[in-house]
Amino acid sequence: MFGIAARRLGYRVHTLEASPDSPAGQISDVEVTADYDDLEKISAFARAVDVLTFEFENLPVFPLERVAEWRPVRPRPRILHICQNREREKEFLVRHGFPCAKHRTVTSAPEAAAAAAAMGFPCVLKTAEFGYDGKGQAKLGSAADAADAWSKLDAPRAVLEEWVDYRCEISVVCARDISGRVECFAPAENIHRNHILHRSVVPARIDASVAREAELLTVRLARALDLVGVLAVEFFVRRDGTLLVNELAPRPHNSGHFSFDACVTSQFEQQLRAVCGLPLGSPRLLSPVVMVNLLGEAWADGEPAWVALLSDPDIKLHVYGKSGARTGRKMGHFCVLKSTVEEAWCAADEAEARLGIRSDLAAPK
Ligand SMILES: Nc1ncnc2c1ncn2[C@@H]1O[C@H](COP(=O)(O)OP(=O)(O)OP(=O)(O)O)[C@@H](O)[C@H]1O
Ligand SMILES: [Mg+2]
Repeated sequence: MFGIAARRLGYRVHTLEASPDSPAGQISDVEVTADYDDLEKISAFARAVDVLTFEFENLPVFPLERVAEWRPVRPRPRILHICQNREREKEFLVRHGFPCAKHRTVTSAPEAAAAAAAMGFPCVLKTAEFGYDGKGQAKLGSAADAADAWSKLDAPRAVLEEWVDYRCEISVVCARDISGRVECFAPAENIHRNHILHRSVVPARIDASVAREAELLTVRLARALDLVGVLAVEFFVRRDGTLLVNELAPRPHNSGHFSFDACVTSQFEQQLRAVCGLPLGSPRLLSPVVMVNLLGEAWADGEPAWVALLSDPDIKLHVYGKSGARTGRKMGHFCVLKSTVEEAWCAADEAEARLGIRSDLAAPK
């Protein structure tokens, strides 16, 4: 999606991916296949381009730091270093005074058990690194769960976190350019199914004051990180309307995919503009929208029923071109644009039914 945005502005795109025929590689001018720690190939790749960016967090930082000595890498690799590790991310949040859930770093099963007893139940144990879509997490209902949770995670370090009784989850995606200007997209309300983002609803159904506070925190975070590029901030909205920062992602985010169809400028075009030194575009929302992720399950009986899906002309479909439609794997998404989020929500239910996807989510209140 970044490559498509770059092409539209006339840029040539080179991609480096660990496996061949990647979605980005399919639309790139040059596709390099290399391991993410192959300094030699990454250096050769960097010599052929003017500026580098990344769209994936589980990358070793050292090759990026090396090439950053002689090519701009945006966002700077230090930001990736912070955000790809939950322990460092939480440290950063606390050090800069951002609100986040109570937590403690633990390095053994007994430490996890002691921290959980002090924290109270339920609580959640998360690996420090390589977690996504709820992988690398275990919820603890009582002291008896600690040993199992620790061995299940199978990691040397983890963060134990209080369980947050939230009203909803939201995210704000922003972009910051090289002059330090920040633009935020409207907060998205995120609904997960099996720990995987299922839908994003924009505008989020939250008070204007909560939306403003989330945007303020996001702008402050982008500045504190000295970001050039795109940053997504995931928040928990507590029942009293206060916010906790859950996670940071220094890249376009799944919950910001609505921006392709529903905004003046997409998050990918903002990333391109920011890293190439262009002024940012307007993130203004043009229409209420519900974004629905398409997971591998939808391919269970072969190619999904696209003709049926697209019988609603207000639906915009994106298929990423990933090979191997595994259960739980994000293969694409569609956006439903209607005059209200309630209408878009109902149309999304109908669209899922046409695709044969089970929809058991509560309608918006
Ligand atoms: N402390 C918590 N209290 C309540 N729910 C939580 C908590 N931590 C995580 N969750 C739930 O699990 C989801 C995934 O957690 P989180 O975002 O921390 O990890 P992740 O697996 O890295 O996810 P992502 O796919 O966003 O990278 C959250 O969006 C939320 O629904
Ligand atoms: Mg998350």
